[in-house]
Amino acid sequence: MNQPREEIKVSMRETSKLEQRGRLTVEPDHITLGDALIVLQTFPDNCVDFIITSPPYANNRHGPYQGVPIDGYVEWLKPISEQLKRVLRPPGSFILIIKERAHDGERATYVLELILEMKKHGWLWTEEYIWHKKNCYPGKWPNRFRDAWERCLHFTKQKKFKMFQEAVMVPRGNWAQKRLEKLSDTDLIRDESHSLSGFGKNVSHWLGKKYVYPTNVLHLATECSNRNHSAAFPISLPAWFIKLFTEQGDVVLDPFIGSGTTALACVQLGRRFIGIEKVAAYYQQALTTIASEAGQAVGFRYDLQQRELFERLNALPV
Ligand SMILES: C[S@@+](CC[C@H](N)C(=O)[O-])C[C@H]1O[C@@H](n2cnc3c(N)ncnc32)[C@H](O)[C@@H]1O
Repeated sequence: MNQPREEIKVSMRETSKLEQRGRLTVEPDHITLGDALIVLQTFPDNCVDFIITSPPYANNRHGPYQGVPIDGYVEWLKPISEQLKRVLRPPGSFILIIKERAHDGERATYVLELILEMKKHGWLWTEEYIWHKKNCYPGKWPNRFRDAWERCLHFTKQKKFKMFQEAVMVPRGNWAQKRLEKLSDTDLIRDESHSLSGFGKNVSHWLGKKYVYPTNVLHLATECSNRNHSAAFPISLPAWFIKLFTEQGDVVLDPFIGSGTTALACVQLGRRFIGIEKVAAYYQQALTTIASEAGQAVGFRYDLQQRELFERLNALPV
């Protein structure tokens, strides 16, 4: 039970070494053991194409890593989000996977406050996607139902950003078969919304199309148990966003990489990854997973400093 404290001390020592070395050119296909705020400060400006992460939850994890108190959550994440804005290339996107917890009988507001703070710092809150955890089992609470979704907040630095919508198209589905069989006169022209919203549709455009654009709700099952991390997200989640917002060879950053899921998705999709993780056990887990699942295929490497650190950590009592 004492081990996590010891592990955090090791990581802090290592990151202060990085600090002494001054600003680094960041090396892709690399995971650094350390505190995200400190490590990010060693990265040059505009060095990554895309960022995706799920930060530690507010105050509700008491396992290997401590949660962040609800009251201090915005203050804690704000300087990290400022660093993320600095290191993201202008046409890049940042997906923040987060869900406010319920506390003292009501939903906390720190995610909403964080969005406002990030906007003040110049981030554009471009979109919100929903990850629907489709395999959630039911539970019983006196005043709500089981939480089965998380926000995937999409931030950008500018209105025009890289987005490859064709990469995530989905089969048109059976619903269209019947709907498109008999088209009315209205279906053949652009039908403007009666609510004067400015939206409209031309149903006949879907004739003959096998694939259509998806919605902003992702129905994906959780898969924590197979990665030795209680908060791991399914690989299909980062993979979907990586396909949508990056091209082959682009550099993807996850500053809270945990068991390395984002790195694995990058390896599978031919993107390069940069990860940061504060808890040595998860860092180790991420390196092991990437090396065993993808090492042979892509020649995954970590530098000498990381290798030495990894070996020393391996020698720590588990
Ligand atoms: C929600 S988990 C991310 C899980 C990851 N998406 C996965 O699939 O395994 C958050 C991670 O952030 C790490 N963490 C917490 N505080 C950190 C910090 N200040 N710097 C870097 N990592 C941190 C935790 O140890 C944890 O592994």
